[in-house]
Amino acid sequence: MREEVAREGLARFYIPVSHEYMRSDGKIEPSWMPVFYNPYSQVNRDLTVLALRAHMKLGGRIRTFVEPLAGSCVRSIRVLLESLNDYGIAYASDISQAAVELCKRNIELNDLNTRLFVEKSDARLFLLKLDNNGVPVDSIDIDPYGSPIYYLDAAIKSVGKEAIVSVTATDLGALTGRYKDVGLRRYSAYIYPSEFSKEIGARVLMGAFVRVSSYLERSAEPLMTFYHEHFLKAIFKIKRDRRSASNAINDLGFMCLDKDGNFKAAYRIGEPPELGCFKMVGPLWLGELWDESFIDAMMSEGKQLSFLSGEALKSLEVIYSEMKVKALGYYDIHYICSRLKLNVPPFSTLIKRLNELGYKASRTHFDRRGIRTNAPIELLEEIIKSLSQN
Ligand SMILES: C[S@@+](CC[C@H](N)C(=O)[O-])C[C@H]1O[C@@H](n2cnc3c(N)ncnc32)[C@H](O)[C@@H]1O
Repeated sequence: MREEVAREGLARFYIPVSHEYMRSDGKIEPSWMPVFYNPYSQVNRDLTVLALRAHMKLGGRIRTFVEPLAGSCVRSIRVLLESLNDYGIAYASDISQAAVELCKRNIELNDLNTRLFVEKSDARLFLLKLDNNGVPVDSIDIDPYGSPIYYLDAAIKSVGKEAIVSVTATDLGALTGRYKDVGLRRYSAYIYPSEFSKEIGARVLMGAFVRVSSYLERSAEPLMTFYHEHFLKAIFKIKRDRRSASNAINDLGFMCLDKDGNFKAAYRIGEPPELGCFKMVGPLWLGELWDESFIDAMMSEGKQLSFLSGEALKSLEVIYSEMKVKALGYYDIHYICSRLKLNVPPFSTLIKRLNELGYKASRTHFDRRGIRTNAPIELLEEIIKSLSQN
């Protein structure tokens, strides 16, 4: 197997190299590699680093990082070098012997023999074993190829008094309603495509996370939600706290869509929907997607680190703006314009016009074609019509 030493953040690591892992479009296909490494997930790892730093900046404590689906161990190495500096221990596992062998060499290469421990294990067994052995688990990153649903129970069960848990999902077809039966099977949710499918996917994933936390009597507080081309990521603060667990479950419910897939109303579990609801999506998370002080802290930490990809900070800036809008869903302006047979107006003008009329509005990081606003669709359409006449 040919290898090269790659760099990402402050980590150096061996990765297998061969034209056999290249797709016809010239991009690497990580699932064809003998050990999984996806360079296009750097932004995901950057956000893990920033989230842990933000948590500590806000007074949280992180002594341990757990990565039960570790691949090459690049994420654990980065966390130790970039978030936990000279202290902190990481525990990693992977089901693949080849991955574990590569991890060991990568640990050596970064001089982390006394701080990063890796073993071959099924992720669930590994998590439960840490719990059983009394290891204080302060942070966990679940990063599978596909759905994280299978690992949630063991991950949430293994956390100590308080932990930061990040979950990534790449099964976007199921989460965005393209494969309805898969979505129903995996997430026990009815998911239909809509203008804001990516946000629905995030909310379904978060809803599943909160349900599992709730039956394990842990509270789950969402800190940040993120969409990127091939994955959704949600980061939670988990606490052993029965009362807050009950509060969180009250933020689960359904989103009602009209015939065209537009958002009409939201109903919490137990609330009867009004007539005229064409499709009910959910159950899903109806609460906030971002914690403002956490995003603030991630941004200020990000500005100090020159080795991150520009993408993480750019996305955080858009999130910073859209989280202030506090509206469920967003509008696909290109879709609306094609339905109305109008040209797409400049987004900056549209946002300015909405603001002048007293509404909040922002681009959304979920979709370049989207705008998040608390204005009703009828008004938005009127503004688009008036702008396209000028
Ligand atoms: C997406 S990759 C992880 C990438 C890594 N977290 C990173 O940031 O580069 C998923 C990994 O999970 C491993 N895996 C799959 N099923 C597993 C299981 N049941 N238990 C542990 N590892 C598993 C695969 O071998 C693969 O290396």
